Amino acid sequence: MSAMAQMEKDSLVVAESMAATDTKKGLFVVFEGIDGSGKSSAERSIYETLANEMPGRVILTAEPTETWLGDCVRRANKDDSSGATEALLFVADRAEHGVRIAQWLREGKIVLCDRYYASTIAYQGAALKGSMGVKSAIEWLKAVNEPIIVLPDLTLLFTIRVDMALERVKQRSGISKFENLEYLREVDLIYRSLCMEDPTYFTVDSSRPLEQVIRIALAAIRAKL
Ligand code: TYD
Repeated sequence: MSAMAQMEKDSLVVAESMAATDTKKGLFVVFEGIDGSGKSSAERSIYETLANEMPGRVILTAEPTETWLGDCVRRANKDDSSGATEALLFVADRAEHGVRIAQWLREGKIVLCDRYYASTIAYQGAALKGSMGVKSAIEWLKAVNEPIIVLPDLTLLFTIRVDMALERVKQRSGISKFENLEYLREVDLIYRSLCMEDPTYFTVDSSRPLEQVIRIALAAIRAKL
């Protein structure tokens, strides 16, 4: 074998062993969907069911996080910071969150995460549409997210007609700036396009009764366990 071929073989062995030490033992499940899609109610119930079955093994987490970085995101939102600032703060929050998620996965935990990078692509993609065009916005957001994310094993996308979702939101208190029909339609379109290009997405029709939504989502998670 030539020296060059040997070197290539060695680097392959190193790459394989790095991948082996990096192998995560847990399961990373992300919950996504527009506001009012019912994802949070489904998630809480799914968490309770799984945590009862596997005490100590299930983690429920969310973005924006309950850390100072999550506070920065909420502050930027309240202060009406620019779309780009907000996007980068979501990503900074996620970079730190990713370190904790990776650790939980190495410990073999099942991590349920309410919103992750697809939220940034969809929500900030729609917000930045006006300033950079939706295609460039999505490309930019994917590029800044890719190096810092932990790839989900499963992304559950809760879908519902946008007008129905908005009706549900209106019945709750405190509409955020993200919650208007035209904007949420764009967010929904981006979510659906992400779903088409990634086989780890699973769509749950959340216009169904909540018990059915929960049953379908739980079955999708169990299929990955
Ligand atoms: P939150 O209060 O967590 O609402 P929900 O229960 O609907 O998830 O709100 C988070 C809001 O932040 C929601 O409107 C979506 C938005 N968001 C983004 O715009 N980008 C992101 O990357 C994330 C994680 C959330």
